[in-house]
Amino acid sequence: HKHILGTEQLSREDIELILDTADSFKEINSREIKKVPTLRGKTIINLFYEASTRTRTSFEIAGKRLSADTINISASASSVVKGETLEDTAKNLQAMAPDIIVMRHSASGAPHYLAKRLDCSVINAGDGAHEHPSQALLDMLTMRQVKGRIEGLKVAIIGDIAHSRVARSNLYALTRMGATVRLAGPGTMIPPGIERLGAEVHTDINEAIRDADVIIMLRIQLERQGKTLLPTLREYARFYGLNPQNLKLAKDDAIVMHPGPMNRGVEISSFVADGPQNVILDQVENGVAVRMALLYLVAGGEQAEK
Ligand code: CP
Repeated sequence: HKHILGTEQLSREDIELILDTADSFKEINSREIKKVPTLRGKTIINLFYEASTRTRTSFEIAGKRLSADTINISASASSVVKGETLEDTAKNLQAMAPDIIVMRHSASGAPHYLAKRLDCSVINAGDGAHEHPSQALLDMLTMRQVKGRIEGLKVAIIGDIAHSRVARSNLYALTRMGATVRLAGPGTMIPPGIERLGAEVHTDINEAIRDADVIIMLRIQLERQGKTLLPTLREYARFYGLNPQNLKLAKDDAIVMHPGPMNRGVEISSFVADGPQNVILDQVENGVAVRMALLYLVAGGEQAEK
């Protein structure tokens, strides 16, 4: 693939190749000298129109560990604040001949728009409530590492499904890999018709948690809600938060995941977030390897080394 715009477009073979490539890069991340010459001479621009800690940093680290030149642009410190359009911004960046643009934007479809207009590769680092493919891939790398497989796993994804690009990317990818996906949240946060994408849908989170192998908790996307938040944060924590009591419904060896940033005490209690079943920082660690794999594969794989 020239671009990575979403997991919807990825086949099972594509996903396996990305995860296997990420596995091969994990070893580099544990070395004392964590740098290989694989993408020497390539230029990567991280173009972020929305806040990010994990995704932006790990794409930058991934590029640097592969010896690419990485440049970070955040919209708030760019000429976007002077009124420059997305298309003009992108064409001006293109004129500087980058090989890959990694992009996060609040509008669903923004990276697809750029991919149609630019010569370089585009990687979607999160577009509105649509997709966040590298997150789903690092989530699956973590599941495969702990559980040894993805096929047959029961994965509960709980929270603000309607606004979650993480939920959507995981739903596409996990069902393609043969996992069962259970989505749960308040009725106001479940998009109508989502079951048509192959998910079980629950408004009682206990039903989603029962016998689950993996639980992915999602943050309420306060920045994407309308004016009235239903339910309130207090009600949300009570009925939709993961705590040591409802976690007992899952399999004994179930793992707890969260893409971050967490709102402790809302969707997840600190007892669970810091408890023995959490793999939240393993996800972050795997994020570097997955993003190295995506940059490497998009840049042409072995051809990139010539
Ligand atoms: N999971 C995730 O996308 O985190 P950031 O918003 O910090 O990049």
